[in-house]
Amino acid sequence: MVYFLNIALVVSTAFTTVVGATNINFDVKPFKIDLSAEVPRLKFLVNNTRLPAKALYPSIGEEEGTGLGFLRDLQTQWLTSFDWEAQQAELNQFQQFTVDIEGQTVHFVHEKSEDPNAIPLVLLHGWPGSFHEFLPVIKPLTESSLVNGTNVSYNVVVPGLPGFLFSSPPPLNWTVADTARIFNTLMTDVLGYETYAVHGTDWGCGVGYSLYSDFNSTVRALQLVLLPFLPLSPEEIAANNITLTAVEEVSEQRAVAWTTSDWGYFKEQSTKPNDLGLALYDSPVGQLAWIAGKYKRWSDPRAGTPPSVLDHTAILTAVSLYYLTDSFLSSIWIYEQNPNVLNPVYSKAPTDAPLLFSQYEYSIGFWPEQYVAKVGNLVSYTVHDFGGHWAGLDNPPALIGDLRAMAPYFSA
Ligand SMILES: *[C@@H]1O[C@H](CO)[C@@H](O)[C@H](O)[C@H]1NC(C)=O
Ligand SMILES: *[C@@H]1O[C@H](CO)[C@@H](O)[C@H](O)[C@H]1NC(C)=O
Ligand SMILES: *[C@@H]1O[C@H](CO)[C@@H](O)[C@H](O)[C@H]1NC(C)=O
Ligand SMILES: *[C@@H]1O[C@H](CO)[C@@H](O)[C@H](O)[C@H]1NC(C)=O
Ligand SMILES: *[C@@H]1O[C@H](CO)[C@@H](O)[C@H](O)[C@H]1NC(C)=O
Ligand SMILES: *[C@@H]1O[C@H](CO)[C@@H](O)[C@H](O)[C@H]1NC(C)=O
Repeated sequence: MVYFLNIALVVSTAFTTVVGATNINFDVKPFKIDLSAEVPRLKFLVNNTRLPAKALYPSIGEEEGTGLGFLRDLQTQWLTSFDWEAQQAELNQFQQFTVDIEGQTVHFVHEKSEDPNAIPLVLLHGWPGSFHEFLPVIKPLTESSLVNGTNVSYNVVVPGLPGFLFSSPPPLNWTVADTARIFNTLMTDVLGYETYAVHGTDWGCGVGYSLYSDFNSTVRALQLVLLPFLPLSPEEIAANNITLTAVEEVSEQRAVAWTTSDWGYFKEQSTKPNDLGLALYDSPVGQLAWIAGKYKRWSDPRAGTPPSVLDHTAILTAVSLYYLTDSFLSSIWIYEQNPNVLNPVYSKAPTDAPLLFSQYEYSIGFWPEQYVAKVGNLVSYTVHDFGGHWAGLDNPPALIGDLRAMAPYFSA
């Protein structure tokens, strides 16, 4: 398997967990990222990719897609000042492992608190992301913090979705429900947690909601920043007599933009993933052009200024991770495998576990409180006036607060 050419596997440790009367052995292997050998080819291709000398229609900004000036700046930075080794060292500061579950190799970060009462928490990323989008929140969540008078900390697990980075591509018929099942196995049978809390963003919301619906005895709190339900149109919001604040109005306009003028990528990736995936397979600048515009359009317009850490280096790290692990093609198949992830019919998950929801002003979608309450046991609805689609990069302190807010509702 091609991934193993790129990675250094260190000492192997066998974890044994007793589940009922059955002994199940999982071979959990420590993992370090070592993609340095692939970097010269990346640099060669970045150096030898031509972009147009000038924009065809200079009056057009980012609204028709990635701007030429923005892309050229990123291309130059990638070649001249971007330091892969420094990024790799930062990624490797997190304890990483791989394990085989149902024939899938699952890569995951596992950072534990020193507190024996820490709550197990899974963070679920989306596309075009990876565990990289959670780096600013992982370690703070393992540290103790007083929440409503209670001492709260987490044991944080960040698994890679199948087909992303170091998690192997799944079989053709794989869905988010299958991912939820193997991630539940990861938390329970592999890591030995009897119950745990879940956070999801983007596709991670689809997986997280599936965990919440299908594993109601182990998933005992869920926090989402998006719902796997189709956002309402302004007409539907008006027809339901829902009045919006100024911040929510911005979010609703973002939802309209995402589901109309920014929907092409979703159609393409869910219908002809090979056309796109093969076209960009060996083109770092092509992948950058496809992905960077989304980081720009889907984040807070103040991205890169505090508290946002979503700067150009973060975008280049995210795209480098896709290119260097050969996962651009396999990552977009999730759209083909789950084309109806946004359910137009809001229905309630069969669970009494608490659901917390945060609406970030510049998210790609908007879900009013009344509608979030239709899909689960909603106990908290928060609106943040800073941040976009990548809460972990766009507003890490707010996401840390959102996740700590789960603790008072969590009961094992
Ligand atoms: C880019 O290519 C040019 C021309 O071959 C070469 O002189 C230059 O050193 C290359 N730059 C990098 C960073 O590889
Ligand atoms: C919270 O728990 C940690 C770890 O058990 C402990 O070191 C710390 O003193 C506690 N803080 C408070 C305010 O109880
Ligand atoms: C999906 O495909 C795998 C083989 O790749 C097969 O074992 C499994 O039964 C299939 N599942 C469904 C639901 O068709
Ligand atoms: C919205 O308000 C109008 C006027 O008060 C009322 O006729 C209608 O039934 C309301 N719609 C809903 C969905 O509550
Ligand atoms: C879990 O789901 C099952 C099946 O839908 C349901 O019967 C049960 O009441 C649920 N349990 C909890 C704790 O919500
Ligand atoms: C916070 O603590 C107060 C006082 O003990 C309690 O009434 C309230 O329900 C708690 N809030 C949460 C979210 O648990």
